Amino acid sequence: MTVTEKILVTGATGKVGREVVRKLAEAGVEVKAATRTPDMARKLFDDGVEVVELNYDWASTYDGAVTWADRVFLMPPPFSPDAYESLVPFLDWAVAAKVRHVVLLSAMMVEQKDHLHLRKVELHLESRGIEHTILRPNLYMQNFHPGFISEQIREDGRIRLPAGEERVSLVDVRDVASVAVRALTSEEHFGKAYTLTGEESLTMGEAAAAVSKAAGRRIPYEPVSDPEFKRILEARDWRPEEIEVMLGLFGSIRRWWRAPIYPDLDRILDRAPRFFSDFCEENADAWR
Ligand SMILES: NC(=O)c1ccc[n+]([C@@H]2O[C@H](COP(=O)([O-])OP(=O)(O)OC[C@H]3O[C@@H](n4cnc5c(N)ncnc54)[C@H](OP(=O)(O)O)[C@@H]3O)[C@@H](O)[C@H]2O)c1
Repeated sequence: MTVTEKILVTGATGKVGREVVRKLAEAGVEVKAATRTPDMARKLFDDGVEVVELNYDWASTYDGAVTWADRVFLMPPPFSPDAYESLVPFLDWAVAAKVRHVVLLSAMMVEQKDHLHLRKVELHLESRGIEHTILRPNLYMQNFHPGFISEQIREDGRIRLPAGEERVSLVDVRDVASVAVRALTSEEHFGKAYTLTGEESLTMGEAAAAVSKAAGRRIPYEPVSDPEFKRILEARDWRPEEIEVMLGLFGSIRRWWRAPIYPDLDRILDRAPRFFSDFCEENADAWR
């Protein structure tokens, strides 16, 4: 891959962002890692990766990050009800700065509901007349480690979610990042939107069984109601607006919206997505 364009990766210390930075740097692409926490980012990446401060809430950080870039990987804040308000000023700044291509990390199924915050960001991006690619991943395997489910396992020894017995085609963030890198380093994916899932659809009970097998101890899944889950998140100091986003996410699982398996990832990478059982084996120590 020979890419002479300069690529800015936002959310660079996030689960997907850090993988995108690493993969671009490994491929010899000129990449800047944009983050609210430059000190942390410098520890994550090789010296060849320049780190730049970016906070969507501070317009004073926009120029330093974006005027240099030809392309941007755009990461929304996690589970945020304010994704539209946070991202649009930065996105508009990037358009004014003549960025050529934006790859937006969105989420599976948001195209079904125009009022959803991430869908509003998608529609805004599409309306701005620049090249764009939209990635819509399903729930990440990495929520089990290092994400929010791992906290439950560590502190409570159980997985308690309002996911019922429905299925989810969990996806590995490394596969999402590989697709992002393909999109950022060619013109083939301009104007496209992809739904990124794993190749198997698991109930949370099956996922918990895979975690248990890898960990060598029983970590059960217990379906909980929305009010119970709300109490669990409140006890972990989640903001009410973030809790609403999470309840919406798990409601979509209970409606089977997150169960389908899509071929997009396989087609783009020309290989099968990673399996959850392999992810569990790799991360077993985290749950022991
Ligand atoms: N988690 C999932 O299962 C899942 C599934 C499908 C889609 N998604 C998509 O991924 C998005 C992010 O979720 P995630 O779980 O990947 O989160 P994450 O790993 O925590 O990464 C999100 C990153 O966004 C950056 N960020 C947050 N607030 C910011 C601000 N004000 N200014 C600039 N950067 C900011 C942070 O990067 P720095 O700390 O480096 O600044 C943060 O690490 C979601 O909104 C959704 O679109 C997530």
